[in-house]
Amino acid sequence: MLRIEHLSYEVNNENILNDINFEFKKGKFYVITGHNGAGKSSLAKCLMGLNKSKGKIYLDDVDIAEMAVDERAKLGMGFAFQQPATFKGIRVVDLLKINKKPLKEYEQILNKVGLSAKEYLFREVNNTLSGGELKRLELATVLNRDLKVGIFDEPEAGIDLWSFGNLSQVFNEFKSSERTTIVISHQERVMNLADEIILMKDGQILKSGKKEDILPLLNI
Ligand SMILES: Nc1ncnc2c1ncn2[C@@H]1O[C@H](COP(=O)(O)OP(=O)(O)OP(=O)(O)O)[C@@H](O)[C@H]1O
Ligand SMILES: [Mg+2]
Repeated sequence: MLRIEHLSYEVNNENILNDINFEFKKGKFYVITGHNGAGKSSLAKCLMGLNKSKGKIYLDDVDIAEMAVDERAKLGMGFAFQQPATFKGIRVVDLLKINKKPLKEYEQILNKVGLSAKEYLFREVNNTLSGGELKRLELATVLNRDLKVGIFDEPEAGIDLWSFGNLSQVFNEFKSSERTTIVISHQERVMNLADEIILMKDGQILKSGKKEDILPLLNI
């Protein structure tokens, strides 16, 4: 369970997130949606400790608000960036090895996100990779970890629609009674997997609920 209380985030005295309260329950799949600039990525980064926020953040009743990103990662939180970084000199396998598993499992996870293991496992994660390949790798490295809380920022962005069916399948498999999944998305196919959809606007949660209740509000 991940609970936020009075969470705010400001940059240069300007409020980006404004007094947000929410409880993400264990075993549930959440989709955060809302227009560009609503504050979705900012919220995700606050949860992960990549943004320094005000307010309380509890993971299973432990206050993690003052913990750095690596400490939160050790507690089982993981984050897939909207715009993943490249790392010169680091190979795909090195990123996956952060969670020690037999090589075979790394191959499987790459195949799951639609990358042939033969081609990518020993490839360097540099800017010769296409945007879509990089997004898939980012997904693979997060899916590869045994997470308590998985946060994915627009995983579908830059991934062609032809293979999109696969992506929803990947998330469907990731869904588990043992973890909390939070996906930022504009895609109805991802929303279809959600137990609850959170609509953000102007740095706040406007409403949360079922898809039928939230989608009509998106045009406002
Ligand atoms: N470090 C920063 N400095 C200045 N402004 C920021 C910073 N981080 C976020 N913002 C602003 O806060 C607002 C929310 O940004 P955020 O990236 O959270 O939006 P988003 O909902 O993820 O949008 P998108 O759908 O385009 O990804 C935007 O107006 C953005 O310009
Ligand atoms: Mg964003």
